[in-house]
Amino acid sequence: MEGGSVVEFPTFDMASKSMMLRQFLMEIARNPFQMGAVWPSSLALARAMARWLPEGGDHPVLELGPGTGIVTEELLAAGLPEKRLVAVEKSPALARSLQTRFPRARILSGDALEIQELLQGQKVGAVFSGLPLKVFRPDQVLRLASQIEGCLLPGAPWVQFSYQLASSRPPAPAFWATDSQLVWSNFPPAKVSVYRARKTAG
Ligand SMILES: C[S@@+](CC[C@H](N)C(=O)[O-])C[C@H]1O[C@@H](n2cnc3c(N)ncnc32)[C@H](O)[C@@H]1O
Repeated sequence: MEGGSVVEFPTFDMASKSMMLRQFLMEIARNPFQMGAVWPSSLALARAMARWLPEGGDHPVLELGPGTGIVTEELLAAGLPEKRLVAVEKSPALARSLQTRFPRARILSGDALEIQELLQGQKVGAVFSGLPLKVFRPDQVLRLASQIEGCLLPGAPWVQFSYQLASSRPPAPAFWATDSQLVWSNFPPAKVSVYRARKTAG
């Protein structure tokens, strides 16, 4: 999974890939702070995240900050039925485009800091997040973590990527970091971290 020597077979064609790149760069020009990245996530990073998709279950799976949808694609390729996917994306343009591409998923155009309200108390089997936590204020990170804790099923993972390769500190004291993987081939190199709520982590 990790490293540059593995041949990657894209799950989408070159035309949609360049369309996604264009969309990503337009969003950066519009709102660099909110995007929190200089380049779209690689297929290797998206796959390193999607491998944490729990097997079975019928609860929704929540994606936060899906951006142009590369992780979304890989979650579906990993076996998640589209109708079980709920995504919260702050950019209305990106949310609209994702809803067109994934018509059976529930794409919510909104703020991840309001997920409990957006989900109306619904529990989820996993959270996959591309949110740029580095640009969130500390109180916003704590608020996000408390909302994620409130909607995750017991023992379920919060899978988060970041560019902080050295840090293994969870975003909030209520979570443990249970697993991680470095993805050197991403630009810039990234880390996938898996967090579980302390109350329920085995
Ligand atoms: C690093 S980008 C996602 C990268 C994605 N994997 C890709 O390659 O397109 C971060 C995404 O989080 C979204 N975002 C930032 N803050 C948000 C918030 N508070 N709620 C929901 N989405 C947010 C941004 O609009 C952006 O689409």
